[in-house]
Formats: sequence, C-alpha cells, structure tokens
Amino acid sequence: MINNQIIAVWGSPNSGKTTTSIKIARELSKNKKNVIVVMGDIVAPALMTVLPEIDMRDKSLGKVLSAPQITQESIMAECITLKKNEYIALLSYKQGDNVFTYADYERERAVDFLILLRHLADYIIIDCNSYIENDMLSATALELSDLVLRHITCDLKSISFYDSHLPLIASSLYKADKHIKILSNIKEYQSKSGVIQRYNGVKYQSDYSRELEEQFLCGELLKPLELKESISSKRVITDIADIILYGGKDKKEEKQSEINVDKIIPIKLHRKANINNKIKSITEKIKLPRLNKKRGYHE
Ligand SMILES: Nc1ncnc2c1ncn2[C@@H]1O[C@H](COP(=O)(O)OP(=O)(O)OP(=O)(O)O)[C@@H](O)[C@H]1O
Ligand SMILES: [Mg+2]
Repeated sequence: MINNQIIAVWGSPNSGKTTTSIKIARELSKNKKNVIVVMGDIVAPALMTVLPEIDMRDKSLGKVLSAPQITQESIMAECITLKKNEYIALLSYKQGDNVFTYADYERERAVDFLILLRHLADYIIIDCNSYIENDMLSATALELSDLVLRHITCDLKSISFYDSHLPLIASSLYKADKHIKILSNIKEYQSKSGVIQRYNGVKYQSDYSRELEEQFLCGELLKPLELKESISSKRVITDIADIILYGGKDKKEEKQSEINVDKIIPIKLHRKANINNKIKSITEKIKLPRLNKKRGYHE
C-alpha cells in the first residue's frame, strides 16, 4: 500500500467534490488508514453543511494558514476528530468565516502546509475550491498532489467552467493530463456523450442517487450507501480507493480502461418529457474544442 499521499478533489462548482472527499475518506478508513480531509471552501465553509452536528469549537483552517508560523502541532490543533470514526480528522473553515476573516498567505505557506500534512496521516484529501484563481491552497494542491480527481457534470455550466479554467492549469506543472476524470451526479435525462467526447473520455461515471443526495442533506455522508440506486456511486468510490491504496496495480484497475471516444456506447434516451429532450439537444450541440498546440491544451 502506498501511504502519505495527497489527493486533490477538484471540479466545477456543485459537482460533488465535497461528497466524494468524505466518501473516499470513509472508504480508506475502512482499511484502517488515517485520513485528514482538508475542506478548502471559505465561501460556504463545507463542514457545517455536510456534518452539521460536529462541534467545531473555535477550530479553523484559516488559523493554520494565516498564522505567523506553521508546525505539525499547529495543524493538529485545528483538526476535528470524529467520535464515530477515529481514523478520520477534518480540517475546515468554521461557520461564519469569510475571505476577510484571516490574513492572506503566500504560495510558500500552502507548500509548507502540504509538506507538513503529508506526514500527519496515511492519506490527505484536499476538497478544493473550484475557483483556484482565488484560492492559493487549492491551486497549490492541484500542483503538488499525488492524484487529482476532476469532477465534471453533464451541463453547460460545467463546460463553461472548464473552458475558463483548464487554460489556467495548462502548464506542465499541473500534469492535467493525469487527472482522473469523473462524470458525476448524472441524471437520467442528461446526455453524456457530448460531454464525454468533449473531454476526450472520462474514467468514471457516477449516476445520480437519491440516497446519496439525502445523506448529504441530512449530514450523513459517513454512513454507508445501501440502496441499488447507489451502485454506480459506490463503485466509483471503491475503485478510486483501490487506486489510492494500491497505486493502480489492483486487478480491478486493469479492467477499468479509460473510456475513449471510440468506445462510447450509445446512451439510452429517456424521453420522459419535452423539457428533457430540450436539455439533451442543447448539450448535444456543444462544439468540440480546438487543439491549442502552443499551450499544450487539448481538452
Ligand atoms: N451521485 C450523486 N447523486 C446524488 N446527488 C449528488 C451526487 N453527487 C453529488 N450530489 C449532490 O450534489 C450537490 C453538490 O454536492 P457537493 O457539495 O459535494 O459538491 P461540491 O462540488 O463540493 O460543491 P461546491 O462547489 O459548492 O463546493 C449535493 O446536494 C450532493 O448531494
Ligand atoms: Mg464543496
């Protein structure tokens, strides 16, 4: 097993980054691995939305990042441990924090933070902010992580987001071609093929699950998913956990070859209502991007 890894979970807004971060932490903890989940959202601090009953006291990620000095002790002091799962600790902005609550910090601080974190747990999951241009920690995590999980949803807003943001990570420093792409929260009325084609294939597809949505709404993401409707969400989480734990050498990983444009299976259309067809026809008309050889950007 490969320990001391940093996994960045990034993607368009509302694409399931926080949900995946918590679910993967849970999956890794089942293997008796210590996990720290760093929740980088300062616009709407994530912890109180996903685990509302947790007592944060005065703990905040903002304190660690803006303090004059950073040490492993100062990081641990802001971590919240869970009573129900002793393998998981959370590091999040606290309720009421906003972008003006703490002093700004430079890239060096984000680098030091990640270096120190790496040795505090078997796995570090960074639940990144979508807007890396405004968040030093998320931008640095995309650069220095061992693995980046990139969430995409089947809608024009997600495509618009990536048209604006992929050029920001075009530099080889970000190794964007190594990102693991996940098409997430796929509703039955959404067309996937245009989106998959646009991004040159995705590795995983996770269908909408009402059970998962309800867990999110009830602050119960650390509970297991049990219903049939959650099969694809569960499989994506366990397969990614295998990659993290075994470095992609797991047998399952061999079988999960990347879906590329040649292998796209025609999607069964669900013509339930006219509105659904309308949504499909919009997403199917998406123009394919042009290759920008100069910048090496080809998605
Ligand atoms: N597979 C899924 N099935 C059902 N609901 C899902 C699924 N994936 C994500 N969701 C729902 O999508 C919403 C957004 O999820 P989440 O907060 O994890 O996204 P995010 O990318 O972290 O958002 P933000 O950009 O605000 O940080 C939640 O209501 C969550 O329950
Ligand atoms: Mg989030």
